[in-house]
Amino acid sequence: MKTDTINGETVPAIGMGSWHLGQGRHSESEEIEALRTGISMGLRVIDTAEMYGSGKSETLIGKALTGYRDKVYLVSKVYPWHANRLMMERACNASLKRLNTDTLDLYLLHWRLGSMLSEAVSGFEKLKQQGKIKAWGVSNFDVDDMEDLFDVDGGNQCVTNQVFYNPASRGIEFDLIPWCDQHNISMMAYSPLGGEGTSLLRHPFITQLAAKYQTGPSSVLLAWATRNGKMIAIPESGEAAHIRENAEALSLVIQPDDLKAMDKVFPPPSSKVALETR
Ligand SMILES: NC(=O)c1ccc[n+]([C@@H]2O[C@H](COP(=O)([O-])OP(=O)(O)OC[C@H]3O[C@@H](n4cnc5c(N)ncnc54)[C@H](OP(=O)(O)O)[C@@H]3O)[C@@H](O)[C@H]2O)c1
Repeated sequence: MKTDTINGETVPAIGMGSWHLGQGRHSESEEIEALRTGISMGLRVIDTAEMYGSGKSETLIGKALTGYRDKVYLVSKVYPWHANRLMMERACNASLKRLNTDTLDLYLLHWRLGSMLSEAVSGFEKLKQQGKIKAWGVSNFDVDDMEDLFDVDGGNQCVTNQVFYNPASRGIEFDLIPWCDQHNISMMAYSPLGGEGTSLLRHPFITQLAAKYQTGPSSVLLAWATRNGKMIAIPESGEAAHIRENAEALSLVIQPDDLKAMDKVFPPPSSKVALETR
């Protein structure tokens, strides 16, 4: 099984996102079954945020995790306007309550807003001391944001940067992945299938590779995202059948010749590209 490390802890290289879960796209029981299927197949990193469905995604995950919490590496995110001394503890407590747990494995600043990074860092460190979170990180931070963060006292305690990444959006390969690698920051790829309504899953080259490896297109995209052992991909699905297909990527290795062919169809960046977000 492909793995990666966050803060020294080994985790599977593929997990599960939850942006649209708990909001009626599928029935609650289907989505709970989907999450539990994923956990049982090794997709043990679950990503959520207080923003998703205004807490509904966390609430659904809290239900799905009854009896499963110790199997999961649980990640949530705080709104930037809650990432300060006054609001962060309250926001974290509310997430913990919805998630039906007393600690998060990882808590992320959802995106950067303005220059209040030192407030966020001290808020995260306080939560760590209280045992409410085990580690903290950021999301949607480009290289200049990471440099500003590391200029702040305690900013180098950040362990993860979660960013948009898939074959159609490879800009981070130019500078952000190398920067995070050098500074021992693990990376998470969000929208690794291209996001909701994605056409990547129907791309002729991806479907051709899927046929060659006798798997599904989603599995090819996830195996590609995690090919270097330096990325944890967090695809979202509310359907158990899709999650089973995604889990096949945990053992799928795309051969070097096919990776080269991917580079021709989806070229890597040759210069700086501003970080894309969703
Ligand atoms: N930090 C951030 O700012 C940020 C931003 C965006 C997303 N995220 C996180 O990243 C997660 C994933 O990103 P995302 O939801 O934007 O996009 P994604 O995972 O790339 O794509 C999700 C879409 O793919 C479909 N899908 C999943 N598995 C499939 C399969 N095997 N076959 C066919 N279709 C499949 C899903 O539909 P079904 O439910 O029908 O399977 C859904 O419509 C989010 O849930 C969230 O946790 C973070």
